Amino acid sequence: MDSTSSKPSFLRNILVRLLLFGLFIIAVRFTYVVTITGESCTVGDFCFFSLPESFNFVITTSTGPEASSAISVKPSDGGVRDLYTSKDWIKAVHFYSSIFQDLIAHGYLSPDSKSLTVETRTGQEVYALRQIGVEDSIGIFKKASGSLVIKAPQNQIPFDNNTFDFVFIGEGRLDNASRPLDLSSEIERTVKPGGYVVAHIVPTKDTYSFNSFLELFNSCKLIKSHQIEGFDSKSSMPFIHEVVLRKEVENVVKFKKTSGNSVNKCFVPGHKLELVKKAEPLISTEPMKPWITLKKNIQNIKYLTSMADIRFKNRYVYVDVGARSYGSSIGSWFKKQYPKQNKTFDVYAIEADKAFHEEYRLKKKKVTLLPYAAWVRNESLMFEINRDPGKEVEEDDKAKRGMGRIQPAKNLHGGGGSKREVNEIQGFDFAEWLKSTVTERDFVVMKMDVEGTEFDLIPRLFDTGAICLIDEIFLECHYNRWQRCCPGERSAKYEKSYGQCLDLFRSLRESGVLVHQWWEYVGCLTIENGHSACYPYICT
Ligand SMILES: *[C@@H]1O[C@H](CO)[C@@H](O)[C@H](O)[C@H]1NC(C)=O
Ligand SMILES: *[C@@H]1O[C@H](CO)[C@@H](O)[C@H](O)[C@H]1NC(C)=O
Ligand SMILES: *[C@@H]1O[C@H](CO)[C@@H](O)[C@H](O)[C@H]1NC(C)=O
Ligand SMILES: *[C@@H]1O[C@H](CO)[C@@H](O)[C@H](O)[C@H]1NC(C)=O
Repeated sequence: MDSTSSKPSFLRNILVRLLLFGLFIIAVRFTYVVTITGESCTVGDFCFFSLPESFNFVITTSTGPEASSAISVKPSDGGVRDLYTSKDWIKAVHFYSSIFQDLIAHGYLSPDSKSLTVETRTGQEVYALRQIGVEDSIGIFKKASGSLVIKAPQNQIPFDNNTFDFVFIGEGRLDNASRPLDLSSEIERTVKPGGYVVAHIVPTKDTYSFNSFLELFNSCKLIKSHQIEGFDSKSSMPFIHEVVLRKEVENVVKFKKTSGNSVNKCFVPGHKLELVKKAEPLISTEPMKPWITLKKNIQNIKYLTSMADIRFKNRYVYVDVGARSYGSSIGSWFKKQYPKQNKTFDVYAIEADKAFHEEYRLKKKKVTLLPYAAWVRNESLMFEINRDPGKEVEEDDKAKRGMGRIQPAKNLHGGGGSKREVNEIQGFDFAEWLKSTVTERDFVVMKMDVEGTEFDLIPRLFDTGAICLIDEIFLECHYNRWQRCCPGERSAKYEKSYGQCLDLFRSLRESGVLVHQWWEYVGCLTIENGHSACYPYICT
């Protein structure tokens, strides 16, 4: 008897205890949420929707399923509120509190600072700032979050110029920004002169990438840079590079612009020279078999992108000067072989020979074709199209075409070469074009194969200062080389010597331009009907 009556009472007891326990949990949770987020519960859905799973369980067992269905609505905002009490949230808040306290101790931040955190999804940093007494703090992200983060369009800061004393961008957000320069410009615009910008970036392994980071903040001065431990050793950022910058009252001129007396002499930064020192050595003695030595040398090339990180560059640009067909170096080499660090490059093909133009127009491979010859000024030019001597070639024999030397039209009139086809083309001022197309903050790779015109173009790039815009050049230098066909005979096509080529390469390297000795990469290529053709011609 006792045993039978004690069973339901025992069960009831358990249920009551469960219910009480549940209520206790809710009460604790409630107080906790309110305390930690500092938000009131007047917004009806706030407390209810952030209740833990245990709440549903408790209600269901005590009052039946009908009642529970009314309450167990899933959080409508994807659980953002729940986040405030999650372990990760609390851990991050602790982490940022100590980071910001440290910054206060060093005088980069104060309780009176008006602060902004850029690109913060949940506002952990903002919460930490407010908690340590920097009350006037706000975050921005593409989606708002509670009272901590307001909605802002991508790469835009919805505040006036010179608003903040302190701007923070954490978690490698700048490393991953689609347009880092747009974001950094907005930060610089909204921070007050004398105010501080603190960025947490993925540790940079080379001075090149750190300098490209600094170049994003043109009107700031580097104050401090050090490595700290991340808040989670298992996260994508076990270590963090913390950089403190201060916005200068006067704009700092980092890049010597083309003005005044020191016309166009650009400034060569030390980190570029450092990189050049690590490059493969130049071949200092003239090769007897250039078609072997120079071709082999391509395997020794140390690409800039294999030595340095290019993540902080604003735009990625490849310029192919003397591009010929798409397949000859853009398609077969640049697209396939050049290490691009997952960046998308804007590709420019500069090719004056009409025979190749249609292909670019049809293919639409996101290549911008400039159907002109790279030259030192805007003018009409004559150029020769090299064809197999003595052979009549068909109209469409594109693969065998190679641009000859170009020269101003007046020089060629009356000249005899009847076997050669001479075309009139438009030359353009390549150096000026480059200056109007790219900036120092862009990453610019160039291939130049212009049949001897490099001896005009490179000096012009120096004179105009455009040389400093180029990060890496693959240059084929044309000289009177030994020929494969005819031992002991030099090519008569080019008048420069190997020594003059070497001087050209050296002058580039001394200016911090990473130049590589190039040799036409594609020996042969397949043309449409399955035939293959090879160039450049060894004998001319
Ligand atoms: C940046 O993007 C890379 C690749 O998309 C990703 O692996 C990494 O976790 C991201 N870093 C941060 C800090 O979001
Ligand atoms: C804000 O700053 C930007 C760039 O720094 C400038 O172009 C713009 O004119 C400024 N706006 C005002 C209202 O001063
Ligand atoms: C590039 O992206 C691929 C896949 O998207 C990834 O596996 C690879 O690690 C990335 N490389 C770099 C250098 O980020
Ligand atoms: C050269 O031609 C380009 C393109 O047509 C033009 O934009 C530029 O102003 C010209 N430069 C000179 C110096 O005439």
